[in-house]
Amino acid sequence: MGGPVTVRVPAKVNVQLAVGGARPDGFHDLANVFLAVGLYDEVTVTPSDSLRITCSGPDAAQVPLDATNLAARAAIALGARYGIAPDVHIHIAKDIPVAGGMAGGSADGAAALLACDALWGTGASRTELLALCAELGSDVPFSLVGGAALGTGRGEYLTALDVGGDFHWVFAVADGGLSTPAVYAEFDRLTEGTAVPDPVASTALLDALRTGDATALAGAVTNDLQPAALSLRPSLAETLAAGTAAGALAGLVSGSGPTTAFLTKGADSAETVATALRESGTCRTARVAGAPAAGATVLARGV
Ligand code: C5P
Repeated sequence: MGGPVTVRVPAKVNVQLAVGGARPDGFHDLANVFLAVGLYDEVTVTPSDSLRITCSGPDAAQVPLDATNLAARAAIALGARYGIAPDVHIHIAKDIPVAGGMAGGSADGAAALLACDALWGTGASRTELLALCAELGSDVPFSLVGGAALGTGRGEYLTALDVGGDFHWVFAVADGGLSTPAVYAEFDRLTEGTAVPDPVASTALLDALRTGDATALAGAVTNDLQPAALSLRPSLAETLAAGTAAGALAGLVSGSGPTTAFLTKGADSAETVATALRESGTCRTARVAGAPAAGATVLARGV
């Protein structure tokens, strides 16, 4: 069966998150433009007597170590599919903000799936792995593929997008998380009684990604969940103001928040904005990251 397998997996930011009305199943149809960014978790799976999870990193205490963790669910789902007992020790070295709107939990699910697949030698096709990812959660397929992609449906149907250059981002990490279902519920409350348009990807935004034009991208980023996140966490407005005052080209809530994302002109500008955000007292910390980043990747394989 082999020794430990380690997979590195990126965080994401949604450069466009267009949200439609609630569907009968409670989910929302999306036009979700994902961009993978260079903040990473590393997930290592090792054969063990039973399934267990450990986690290290500054936010480790906030990560559930039971079967609700998407990494555990991924091992169980892949094992069930191939008739393999999911007896593995999963260790998550966590660097992606927890419950921050950067798909940290989804990333760990995709990474554990890929790691267990390599450990067990299932021979699963990419299509099968993507289908299992979609069962685990709306953002999990994107964590597997990385780069940039348009997600439709509830976000799980992916079309890869061309990206013509590197983008420099700063992420302001807030104290505490926001629950994704709670933010969608607040979106429903705020839009109640209004006609919510069908979500459509912005041509200007896709063009800006394709040409690698940061200024054009800054003019096109949108997040329909932002009013809901701000309603639940009004202090995020101060973080957004601090980042844009420091010279960011654009600032927006990342996904369902509460992490806020700032697009900058280049690497130097990103450092300046990050320093200003850290000194502003409006966030817990600020992280600099480049995009696009590769999807889940096997880093090391024992024998
Ligand atoms: O798919 P995932 O488990 O990550 O979704 C978490 C929650 O976010 C869902 O239970 C739902 O409340 C909300 N959601 C939604 N529409 C989507 C994606 C997620 O309403 N497209």
